[in-house]
Amino acid sequence: MPALSVTLAGVSRSFAASGRGGASGRLAASGRGAASGRDAASGRGGATRRVLTNIDLDIRAGEIVALIGASGSGKSTLLRQVSGLDTPDVGSIQIDGTPLVGIDQRCAIAFQEPRLLPWRTIESNIALGLPRGTPKADGAVRVGELLHLVELEGARELKPSQVSGGMAQRASLARALARGPGVLVLDEPFGALDALTRLTMQDLLLEVHSAEPATILLVTHDVDEALYLSDRVVLLGDDPEAPQGSGSGIRRILSVPGSRPRDRADATLALLRAELLDGLGVSSHHRPAPSPSTTVRLDSF
Ligand SMILES: Nc1ncnc2c1ncn2[C@@H]1O[C@H](COP(=O)(O)OP(=O)(O)OP(=O)(O)O)[C@@H](O)[C@H]1O
Ligand SMILES: [Mg+2]
Repeated sequence: MPALSVTLAGVSRSFAASGRGGASGRLAASGRGAASGRDAASGRGGATRRVLTNIDLDIRAGEIVALIGASGSGKSTLLRQVSGLDTPDVGSIQIDGTPLVGIDQRCAIAFQEPRLLPWRTIESNIALGLPRGTPKADGAVRVGELLHLVELEGARELKPSQVSGGMAQRASLARALARGPGVLVLDEPFGALDALTRLTMQDLLLEVHSAEPATILLVTHDVDEALYLSDRVVLLGDDPEAPQGSGSGIRRILSVPGSRPRDRADATLALLRAELLDGLGVSSHHRPAPSPSTTVRLDSF
C-alpha cells in the first residue's frame, strides 16, 4: 500500500474523571463541557476530564511526524484515535481523505513493549500481522522479506524469550509492517531499549521507511530522536492561558530542516533541540545533555 495522508480536524477526547476503565473510558463529554451524545445515549452522566482538545493536524503521505509532550499530555490517546483503537468525542480523522471508522486496515501500530506471543517463533509472530486471508505461500514470501528488512533472518526459529530486547522490538516492527500499512503509528517504539540499541533502531526505521514508505506518526520522549527521525515535531501540551483541565492541544510544530539521514551533531538541530526543551519546560542550559541521547521524562521533574 502506498503511504497515505492523515488529517485530524478538531479532535477532542475526554474520559470519566474517575479514571481509566469503566466502559473503556468511553463515558465522555463533548464540546465545551456539554454532555456528549454518548452520555445522552447511554443515559449515564458524571464528571469527565478533557485530555485532548481541538487537535488539527495534516500529515502528508510519506511524512514522519514525531509527537512529543509531558507524560500524561495525551500522546498515546492521540495515537489511539489515529489508529482507530479509540474514537474522538468531537472532530474527525481521515486517512487518505476517507473517514476513519474503527480499526482500520490501512493503519498499523507498534508499542513500547514488543507484545510478541511467547509460544510462537519470531517468524510466526511476524506472520500474525499479515492481512487475513493471505495465501500461505504469499505470506511466507512477505515474512521472509520482512525478516530480511529488520535483520532477523538468523532468529526466525527463535522464541521471543530467546532474543534480545532490540530483536524483539524489530520483530514487533516487522509484524506491524506485515500488512504493508499506509500509516504506521509507533508509541515510544524504542523507549525500553538501551541508548546504543536505540540509535541502531532509529537508523533501521529510516531504512525501513525508505524501503517501504509509509506515513509515520511516532511518540517519543527523546528530543534528539524526534529531530533525527522526523520531518516535523509536534509539541503537545496544556495551553497555559486556558483553565486547568482544558486538555492538551498542539502548542508548537517545528519543521526539521535537511534531508535524512541527518547529522546528529548538526548545529541547526541543536538550536531546535533547545527550542523543544524550552517548549517542554526544561532548561537546556543548566542540564548538560547526557550522551548519546537526551531522554526527557517530564514526570521525573
Ligand atoms: N481509557 C481511559 N480512561 C480514562 N482515562 C484515560 C484513558 N486513557 C487515557 N486516559 C488518561 O488520559 C491522560 C493522557 O494519557 P496518555 O496515556 O494519552 O498520556 P501520554 O501522553 O501518552 O503519557 P506517557 O508519556 O506517560 O505515556 C492520562 O491522564 C490518562 O490517565
Ligand atoms: Mg503514552
